[in-house]
Amino acid sequence: MTTIIAIDGPAAAGKGTLARRLAAELGFDYLDTGLIYRAVGMKLARAGADPADPDRAGQAARDLRPDDLGADDLRSDQAAQAASKVAAIPAVRAALLDFQRRFAAHPPGGKGAVLDGRDIGTVVCPDAPIKLFVTASLEKRAARRLKELLDRGLPAIQEAVLADMRERDERDSNRSVAPLAAASDAFLLDSSDLDADQAFAAAFDHVRSRS
Ligand code: DC
Repeated sequence: MTTIIAIDGPAAAGKGTLARRLAAELGFDYLDTGLIYRAVGMKLARAGADPADPDRAGQAARDLRPDDLGADDLRSDQAAQAASKVAAIPAVRAALLDFQRRFAAHPPGGKGAVLDGRDIGTVVCPDAPIKLFVTASLEKRAARRLKELLDRGLPAIQEAVLADMRERDERDSNRSVAPLAAASDAFLLDSSDLDADQAFAAAFDHVRSRS
């Protein structure tokens, strides 16, 4: 039996950094599930289609190939918004569920898997023995995202980043299928006043206490 660590939380809460570091420390494989939704969203956006179109988005999710996850435009804000729209479509979520569960049950390295997203502890891997819900205030998350975009040399305006994040939070939390939510047995980690090292230390303590 491999160990599964499920990490959920809103955008820019620091869960990707945390998940990657936990996976490296434990020798587990890591799956960024947001990237899968981004890849589906960008397939539509690149074709000039509406990411909220259920038929086209469902087809794009069923046609998804591993190579699609390597596209270099998936980290953009356009990809984030498109991902959030396709992610609200039940046919898209259904098409992507098997892939995520297969990865969790049979990670390439065979030791364990860390998955991060919005519904890992609630829907994708509800039996995961270790669950973390990582959050931070909207203002802190928007400030982190702004810095990240500026550091990458991308044009970004604070008000626009904040508004985009608020819109995405609302869509991800209020959709009818697999909304962003903490599992009842998740360890809650508020990273508002923690740096990356402090967040990692708190998460790693919890993982050790459950292992
Ligand atoms: O984690 P991220 O910012 O890369 O995710 C992009 C979008 O994908 C997010 O706004 C909602 C969606 N998503 C989801 O619905 N379920 C997941 N498990 C992961 C991401």
